[in-house]
Amino acid sequence: MSASREQFGSRLGFILAAAGSAVGIGNLVGFPVAAAKNGGGAFLFIYAVFVIFICLPVMMAEISIGRHTQHAPMNAFRSLSYGHRGWTFAGFLSLITPYMIAVFYTVITVWLFGYLWEAATGGLANLADPNYFGAFINSNDVFLHLIAVEAIVFFILFSGVKGGIERGAKIMMPTLFVMLIALVLFVLTLDNAFAGVRYYFVPDFSKINSSVINTALSQAFFSLSLGMGIMITYGSYMQRDDDLPSSAKFVAATDTLVAFIAGLLIMPAIFSFNPDTNTADLSDSSVGLIFTFLPKIFLAMQTSIGYVGASLVASLFFLLVFFAAITSLVSITEVPNSALMGSAKYSRTRSLSIIGASMLVFTVLCVFSFGRIEGLTQFMTYAGVNKSFFDVIIDVFYDTILPLNGLLACLLVLTHWKRTNFHRELERGSPNYRNSWLEKYVDFSLRTFIPAILLIIFINTVALKYFGVSLIG
Ligand code: PHE
Repeated sequence: MSASREQFGSRLGFILAAAGSAVGIGNLVGFPVAAAKNGGGAFLFIYAVFVIFICLPVMMAEISIGRHTQHAPMNAFRSLSYGHRGWTFAGFLSLITPYMIAVFYTVITVWLFGYLWEAATGGLANLADPNYFGAFINSNDVFLHLIAVEAIVFFILFSGVKGGIERGAKIMMPTLFVMLIALVLFVLTLDNAFAGVRYYFVPDFSKINSSVINTALSQAFFSLSLGMGIMITYGSYMQRDDDLPSSAKFVAATDTLVAFIAGLLIMPAIFSFNPDTNTADLSDSSVGLIFTFLPKIFLAMQTSIGYVGASLVASLFFLLVFFAAITSLVSITEVPNSALMGSAKYSRTRSLSIIGASMLVFTVLCVFSFGRIEGLTQFMTYAGVNKSFFDVIIDVFYDTILPLNGLLACLLVLTHWKRTNFHRELERGSPNYRNSWLEKYVDFSLRTFIPAILLIIFINTVALKYFGVSLIG
């Protein structure tokens, strides 16, 4: 345990940084669409139940593993299992996962930055052109935007845990919240906005089936940044006597609140553009929605607020999502960086330079996988679908492996760390947690149904993604 390990300066610092990680593109765009397509209020209800009853205990397990061991994922696993090889490999999975997610998330953040730039410099009409996206992602401008995004992310990371990550979150998170509320208030004034609100809230329980349940749980898991090693790493920077259970509750509540509110932005905007929208027509992918559908909606606003007004709304929206993406990207890049600093005893600067340079190679490979290089564009085929290098990274690391990592963290707690030690860590700085209902619930759920559910989700996703068979509906 190193005495000089960096720390967040305060409990609020931890909460904002962890919430900054959790609030991402998934909340702002993925969640509202998933809710609208899958039963509105019924989905919201199921989602909230999953956050509270399944994700919160997993989040508490991850944060406490980090705080107790004072290590990033791989060393944390190694230390709790006393160097057991199998568990070291499990820890390695929690390290390679964020590394690869950081690669693809960088690509999307770069696109966001490009769209922000274009909207803010008067090019909203270009963004609304259906051919723009395809041309943009293969243009050389992407490299300029890549440099800008990397400069921002690495500037924050070079400034350290407290001076960079925490300070960045303290600036960006409140700003993000204000922008979100301002945009919501604005879209609610548009014609037909309330048709969208109705669609979002009115529960349709007939849409709920096992695959919707799977979607809700996966969405909640991603949204809370679980299974990515982030909560372990940020936990290792948390002060030892901070109240861990209530910090975790705050992070989960903030993330969920932002997702719910984002629905009040996206759904009214979609319905004001086309009151007869059938949400079945909406794209399943956040990427499709952000980069092709929403720009059309923003441009259409020019009839009521003029081109400049519409450009302003679009710029604000892209800035909002960009901030959300940057705080997530910072957190996920810090995982491998923290691990390298811990194992190789490198300085922050040296370690970040190595991580940054190596990630850049993979990021550029992704950029070339949208048609520029054949071998990367048609990288693999499974379940009858052709996948690019970029798609494969998303499928394997983002869509598949997260529940497995969450499961492994739970099993590590149960088999090696032991529940009494785990609860002792949670009780530090939180005397009320001892013997509370929450403690009893966390204890029971983690040794019974949570691991079982995570295993089922993992197996079902593998069957569906790679073999085209759905085991649970
Ligand atoms: N929680 C993030 C989101 O909702 C997921 C994420 C976190 C992705 C960190 C990348 C890095 O988008």
